[in-house]
Amino acid sequence: MSVVPQASESVALRFPTGFVWGAATASYQIEGATTLDGRVDSIWDEFCRRPGAVANGDSGEPGADHYRRYAEDVDLMSSLGIGAYRFSIAWPRLKDLSFYDRLVDSLLEKGIAPWATLYHWDLPQSLEEAGGWTNRVTAYRFAEYASTVVGRLGDRVAGWLTLNEPWCAAFLGYGNGVHAPGVRDSRAAVAAAHHLLLGHGLAMSEIRAGAPDVPAGITLNLFPVRPATGSEADADAARRIDGLQNRIFLNPVLRGEYDADLLDDLAPYGLQEVIQDTDLKAINQPIDLLGVNYYRAYLVSAGDPVDGPSEWPGSSDVRFLQSGHPKTEMDWEVQPEGLTELLVSLSREYPGLPLYVTENGAAYPDTFTEDGEIRDAERIAFLDGHLRAAHSAVEQGADLRGYFCWTLLDNLEWAWGYEKRFGLVHVDFDTQKRTPKDSARWYSGVIEHNGLPAAED
Ligand code: FCB
Repeated sequence: MSVVPQASESVALRFPTGFVWGAATASYQIEGATTLDGRVDSIWDEFCRRPGAVANGDSGEPGADHYRRYAEDVDLMSSLGIGAYRFSIAWPRLKDLSFYDRLVDSLLEKGIAPWATLYHWDLPQSLEEAGGWTNRVTAYRFAEYASTVVGRLGDRVAGWLTLNEPWCAAFLGYGNGVHAPGVRDSRAAVAAAHHLLLGHGLAMSEIRAGAPDVPAGITLNLFPVRPATGSEADADAARRIDGLQNRIFLNPVLRGEYDADLLDDLAPYGLQEVIQDTDLKAINQPIDLLGVNYYRAYLVSAGDPVDGPSEWPGSSDVRFLQSGHPKTEMDWEVQPEGLTELLVSLSREYPGLPLYVTENGAAYPDTFTEDGEIRDAERIAFLDGHLRAAHSAVEQGADLRGYFCWTLLDNLEWAWGYEKRFGLVHVDFDTQKRTPKDSARWYSGVIEHNGLPAAED
C-alpha cells in the first residue's frame, strides 16, 4: 500500500468539501501533571491506586506529559496538516483553567479548530464521595462546571461535546467496575446512565447560553448489533443489547423518550424510579451534531445466564460471538463495514442530524525498525478501511461532516495502562519523545487530498 496518495488525480474517493479532518485525545489519558496548578483528584486517580485495577499499576502520571508539552504537540499536528483537535477538559482542573486558554489559543494560531469535550470520565473524586453519577445532584454540578468552562472558552471553541461515551461511564464505571469508580451494581449503573443524560441536557442549555453560535452535541459509542441466527431468542438478545448500548442514549437525547422495551428491560434495575417529571424534556435539547465513536460491531446470541457482575443489566444470558474477522491488539474484530451500516442507519432513523466520527482507530504492537521508524501497516489498513466505509456511507446519503482519528498520541488506555498503543504518534513514556508513525504520514496525505486513492487489489 502506498503511504501517501501520489497526486490529486489518483484520489478516487473524495470527501465532501469542508470535511473536518481531526485527531482526538482525552485529558486523563495524556495530560499528566495531575497535581499541578490546583488540580484535584479524579475518580481515575483514585481507581489507579487500587491494586490490580489498572495493568502494571499504571496511572495518569506521566501520561504523555501533554500539559507541559502541548505547544510541541500542537506544532506536530500542524506539521501533519490536522485540521481539528478534539481534546477534553479536566473537571478536576476547574480551579485553574488557564492551561485550556493556552491550548486553545495555540491551536487557533496554527489554524487548527479546537473541539472540546466537557466530560471524558474524570469526575472529581469529591463528587464521587457524594455518590458520583448515581446522585442526581452530580448532573447539576456538571451544568455549573459546563457554564464556567463555556464562559471561559466560549466561542474560541469550534465544537462543543458534552459527554464522551456515557455508556462507559455508567456501565463500565458502575456496572461491572472495570472503569473508575469501580462499582459493581446494575442499579447504580442505570441511575448513572440517567443522570449522565440529565447532565448532558442541562449542560447543553449552558452551552447555548454561553456560546450560542457554536455547534454542540454529545459523543456516543454506538455499535451495530447483529443476531447470530434468525431464532427468536437471538433476535431478542440483539434487541436487548441494542437497547442497552445504543437506544438508551439516542432516544432520550433525540426523541425525548426511553423506548418502551428498554423501560421494561430496566424496570428491575430502577430506571423509572430515577426519572423525574421534567427530566426527558431537559435531556431532549436540540443538538447540532452527533459524535459517533466506532470501533467494532457486536454479534450476539442467547445462552444460559452466567454469574458475576455484568455491564449489561439483565443480560447475563447474552453471548458475544466472534465473526471471524482479523483482530486488533485489543482483541476487537476489524469490521469497517459496520461503520457504513451504523452511519447509514443513524441518518435514516434521525434525518437532518449532522454526524461526525469523533473516534476511530486501533491498537497494534508497534515496534521500531533499526532506523528508528514505526512501520504500522496494520493501523494504516485499519484506518484506510474505515475511511472507505465512511465514504460509502456518505455516498448512501449519510450527512457525515468529519472524522477524528483516535488518537494523536499513545496514552493511558484506561484499565489497560500504557501497553495498548492507539497513537498516530509514538510516545516513549520514559523520555516523552514523540515519533510520528507511518500512519501519521499516511493520514496527513489523506487530509491533504481530502480523500483516498482507488483501492489496491
Ligand atoms: C473509547 C474511549 C477512548 C479510548 C478508545 C480506545 O472508548 O472514548 O478514551 O480509550 O475507546
